[in-house]
Amino acid sequence: MIPESFIQELLARVDIVDVVERYVALRKAGANYSACCPFHSEKTPSFTVSPSKQFYHCFGCGAHGSAIGFVMQYAGVGFIEAVEDLAHNAGMQVPQVSERIQTERAKKAPLTELMARAARFYKEQLKASPKAIDYLKGRGLTGEIAARFGLGYAPDDWQGLQAAFPDYNDSALAACGLVIENEQGRRYDRFRDRVMFPILDQRGNVIGFGGRFIGDHKAAQAENAAAGPKYLNSPETPLFEKGRELYGLAQARQAIRDSDQVIVVEGYMDVVALAQHGVGNAVATLGTACTPSHVHKLLRQASKVVFCFDGDAAGRKAAWRALEASLEQLADDRSVGFLFLPTEHDPDSFVRAEGADAFRRLAAQPTTLTEFLMRELCAGLDLERSAEDRARLVHDAKPHLQKLAAPVLRVQLTKAVAKAAAMTQAEVEDQCGIKPPTRGRPPPPRPRHRTVAMTLEHALLEPVLYKPERAARIPLERVSAEDPQGALLHAIADRVDHGELPAGGIGMLIESFRGTPHEATLSSLAPLMAQDEPDPGELEAVFVDALERLREKDLTREIAALNQKARAGSVTPEELRELLARKAQSQKTQPSE
Ligand code: UTP
Ligand code: MN
Repeated sequence: MIPESFIQELLARVDIVDVVERYVALRKAGANYSACCPFHSEKTPSFTVSPSKQFYHCFGCGAHGSAIGFVMQYAGVGFIEAVEDLAHNAGMQVPQVSERIQTERAKKAPLTELMARAARFYKEQLKASPKAIDYLKGRGLTGEIAARFGLGYAPDDWQGLQAAFPDYNDSALAACGLVIENEQGRRYDRFRDRVMFPILDQRGNVIGFGGRFIGDHKAAQAENAAAGPKYLNSPETPLFEKGRELYGLAQARQAIRDSDQVIVVEGYMDVVALAQHGVGNAVATLGTACTPSHVHKLLRQASKVVFCFDGDAAGRKAAWRALEASLEQLADDRSVGFLFLPTEHDPDSFVRAEGADAFRRLAAQPTTLTEFLMRELCAGLDLERSAEDRARLVHDAKPHLQKLAAPVLRVQLTKAVAKAAAMTQAEVEDQCGIKPPTRGRPPPPRPRHRTVAMTLEHALLEPVLYKPERAARIPLERVSAEDPQGALLHAIADRVDHGELPAGGIGMLIESFRGTPHEATLSSLAPLMAQDEPDPGELEAVFVDALERLREKDLTREIAALNQKARAGSVTPEELRELLARKAQSQKTQPSE
């Protein structure tokens, strides 16, 4: 755990305007800065950065957060990485990283350096290998694209890496998978006589390699069983975890952002060939099935993810795995689609045969997740005639409906299943044990029109967010902690009480609730918070007004109770009159701070 105090100090030290400006050109607009949003494509700027609140927000897509949140979202990295990145730039040292992470990191740093050196070596070797150059040219690649992907060549030599690593016996070379030690303790290069595809992590470090056999692999294998696999990959190492990494992401990032779409293909060559033809937003899973962790990463990059698979049985199977990995990662503002190419093609051969435009057209209209799921679930069933088959459909749909994380899409899918099974939506929900969307969620954030009836908690919250000390003035026993906004008020008041509230604006406040149940509540208030800071006097008035309503609510309840008693004859009219007078009084007074 990174201590809370460090996060606070970090956010106090960095200026969100500087951080955002590292990536996005900002224009001053009043007290704030604005730009076209880097998280969705748009022509007029709706992205704002507030220096006073240390907070960014896009009125178009709703993206928002602190400097840390910005780095997470922009670079697609996790919380810890974002903190480290900011700390590094601010010249601060992240303290007390857990021992496990520290040893992990100590292990990684020298390996990263070795991998970078190996990549440079392979790249150099490519220049000296007409055979490898011809192979790549034969596959339609230019030098420019080869350079962009850092392609290289591992020479046909058992100890070729000795030229780059004088200490060939360094155990780290084995640890990062570059050399293999046989039973006699002899060492040799893992990659020999192969075209090398370096695999980069999100920061651009080389973490692994894929090495392709040069030439016609099928023919070679028929001739010589020892030809090895078509693609030889780095093993899993401290740097390289296949189930998380995506080939080509570093190179594709800009194109993904521009198109708000990421295309996922199966092969290294598919990524490179698509880029060669101008389709830059493709990445590949590394010879493994698509995992939820992949999908999570993908959906952070763009709102549309399109899985592109071969049209054969293996492709359909891979697509189904991708669908299963996607269900629990989806949100209602994200989409996952599937593109099935004609059986004879993979993306590389398709784009070469049909061109980039034809590929883009297909990618723009993929089979939707719902279509694909329904098609697969209904396959082989006779829904017209067989009640058994209709029951089977609901039975098979159940786990998928339960897993689907996007609530509105789940309703849509439930309706589709219900229709196909000739049942009602409620019947399917009932059978599948899924609840209809719950009522009583926090109301959607609304524009600042205070005359519109806000919930009381909402009216209290905004002034409190601007000035958390106000929380101490709230009679909390009257605020229900069951409502999410009420619970947040309780939590803030508790911190104020314990002197634990971070100074440094709303961005800091949001940061300090990250990972708690209050995070979502704060998120839902972001559009409101991003508007110009209201006049302090006005805010105070809103707060006082809300406090009044809170007291009144209580009185009203009391009066109602007494009324009931009065009707039952157990309260005197005097008691009731007194209470009503108190209520009238409370409406007249304007308490001040
Ligand atoms: P494919 O066999 O479909 O190859 O493997 P490809 O991508 O079309 O390659 P080319 O066009 O013949 O050069 C798809 C992906 O599966 C993994 C690789 O990541 C490859 O890009 N793979 C395949 C391996 O890891 N090892 C193999 O032996 C084969
Ligand atoms: Mn291919």
